[in-house]
Amino acid sequence: KKGNYDHFMQKEIHEQPHSLTTTMRGRLKHNSVLLGGLKDHLKTIRHSRRIIFIGCGTSYNAALAARPILEELSGIPVTMEIASDLLDREGPIYREDTAVFVSQSGETADTLLALEYALENGALCVGITNTVGSTLARKTHCGIHINAGCEIGVASTKAYTSQIVVIAMMALAIGADRISTQARREAIIKGLSELPSHVSEVLKLDREMKDLAESLIDLESLLVFGRGYNYATALEGALKVKEVALMHSEGMLAGEMKHGPLALVDETLPIIVVATRDACFSKQQSVIQQLHARKGRLIVMCSKGDAQSVCPGGSCRIIEVPQVADCLQPVVNIIPLQLLAYHLTVLRGYNVDQPRNLAKSVTTQ
Ligand code: F6R
Repeated sequence: KKGNYDHFMQKEIHEQPHSLTTTMRGRLKHNSVLLGGLKDHLKTIRHSRRIIFIGCGTSYNAALAARPILEELSGIPVTMEIASDLLDREGPIYREDTAVFVSQSGETADTLLALEYALENGALCVGITNTVGSTLARKTHCGIHINAGCEIGVASTKAYTSQIVVIAMMALAIGADRISTQARREAIIKGLSELPSHVSEVLKLDREMKDLAESLIDLESLLVFGRGYNYATALEGALKVKEVALMHSEGMLAGEMKHGPLALVDETLPIIVVATRDACFSKQQSVIQQLHARKGRLIVMCSKGDAQSVCPGGSCRIIEVPQVADCLQPVVNIIPLQLLAYHLTVLRGYNVDQPRNLAKSVTTQ
């Protein structure tokens, strides 16, 4: 049922204030977080030597977005594994590890094989999924349901933002025994409770993103630069554009720009730079200056009121988003890029909900 919408992807993008609310329902207290599925295992997780995130595609990107806050609040090293790559390498996993599997469907073959592998190696296995009763939910030792509601569009949108929120809540729960970060945790909890209204606000950019899509409709390629919390935003924004709009797009770590990608910059190739306020802001400002000096065709995503400071000459296209707690900013920042991918697809005449060659759940290796 698409209601008033033309496509499921569109409906699911616009549903995010609601899906995020259901993800958090009953789990946020004033200064703590309650995750029923995890509470008996928190002690083991706190004593683990390493936390490893394992997933594919968008689910991997969600874990990447939440990695910094988990590292910060837990003090435990957090590493990232794409499920197929972990299996290809037979990378080492130990009994002292906590392996966190992220999968919207809970049925992705690569992720489930990596789960078998981690179980054989004795790690504590945690599942984060949107599908109650899925293989992932059944075979892990414990876990958290994201409760985003059924996602029908092949391109994952609302599951992505709910996965980030769930992992941020997991970070709050794991770090709950540390006095030194209490104020930080309380600020994030407040940020979580305000997040749905900020997401409603950013969804008002729909028309603007359609206009931007119109200006990009005939182009062959799009780059997205991000760093820190928003490296994942760059990867995920580019993944959405390539999978539904069938346009080549690459998400890149802005810190790597001068190590190769800079050679691509000219007046024609559009480059989105995510430069919202956080500890990396001044570094992103200098990236923008360097791209500008090479006459790059810039589209800058910045915090409200920052248009002047990110683009002094006024020559870039600006996407202004509300500022939220730094670790939650990826939830807000992906939304204009989801809208852009959606409109680009419709304008280019492709199938939004069923991109060619793709299936909702990839149950083969
Ligand atoms: C992209 C997308 C895929 C999935 C990936 C993992 O929009 O949907 O990249 O994220 O196939 O699927 P799950 O999360 O079901 O394991």
